[in-house]
Amino acid sequence: MLCCDDQLCGLRQGVVLPLVMRFVATETGARNMRAPEPGIFGFVAEAIMAIANQQSAADMVDIYLDAQPAATIVELGPGAGYSIRNVLRSAPTKLYGIEISANFRDKLSSEFATEIAEGKYEIRAEDAINMSFLEDDSVDRVFGMNVIYFLDPLDAYLNEIKRVLKPGGKLVWGGKFQVGGVGHHAFKNLDLDKCSAAMREAGFDVATSSARLEGFAAYQALIGEKPTAPLTSSASISPAARQAVRRASVASTDQWQP
Ligand SMILES: C[S@@+](CC[C@H](N)C(=O)[O-])C[C@H]1O[C@@H](n2cnc3c(N)ncnc32)[C@H](O)[C@@H]1O
Repeated sequence: MLCCDDQLCGLRQGVVLPLVMRFVATETGARNMRAPEPGIFGFVAEAIMAIANQQSAADMVDIYLDAQPAATIVELGPGAGYSIRNVLRSAPTKLYGIEISANFRDKLSSEFATEIAEGKYEIRAEDAINMSFLEDDSVDRVFGMNVIYFLDPLDAYLNEIKRVLKPGGKLVWGGKFQVGGVGHHAFKNLDLDKCSAAMREAGFDVATSSARLEGFAAYQALIGEKPTAPLTSSASISPAARQAVRRASVASTDQWQP
């Protein structure tokens, strides 16, 4: 839990949130939120992520990723690695973390040295727009928490993700879509409806959630499934994805919109 007391939590948000929003709206702030650099601004960006993302990144894995044992899983932009231990608990054959920030790669390499040595985890430095180290139809799950905002052009990333996913494989995004615009052009994809439409356009069956968790940890999930057969309706969602969504909605009282 980030806050154990409502008043403290309210105070933190009242004071800290405007400062955070001001930081991320600057050129330097937005650049470091996208991929933290060495130095004070990267440090501030990482501190914001620690406050805002730690709980939600792990929660999204537990509630929405639906990871099965022996799966191949790809995380886009793992950052400080808040999701990783929860994913590894599902006993995947392999978890890849695709991370463009050298800062984060260094930290992940040291924190997950054992898992890397055991071959369970691999960190890749590629931009996720090109995952040529992965075969077509070879991945069970792709996910990213607070990453979709920065992917430009989004359709090129979605096509690449669809290429590597197995038919029936899932793409799970988490994001603070409820925040709306943050006033900087680096945040390209903050509109949940537009992101959903882009995923449908790329050929995914799509479902979205209402907000889960509270305060700084609040987020929404956006889930796509690569169809096992050509779509008959672009607005449909497969029974398997709908079932995962229902399980999640029981836990979170989410309301799902196909
Ligand atoms: C706002 S941070 C979120 C980090 C982490 N997922 C979390 O929730 O704390 C965005 C992350 O995505 C990574 N990233 C941004 N664009 C990327 C891209 N095109 N390919 C791979 N990683 C990317 C950044 O380096 C950074 O780690």
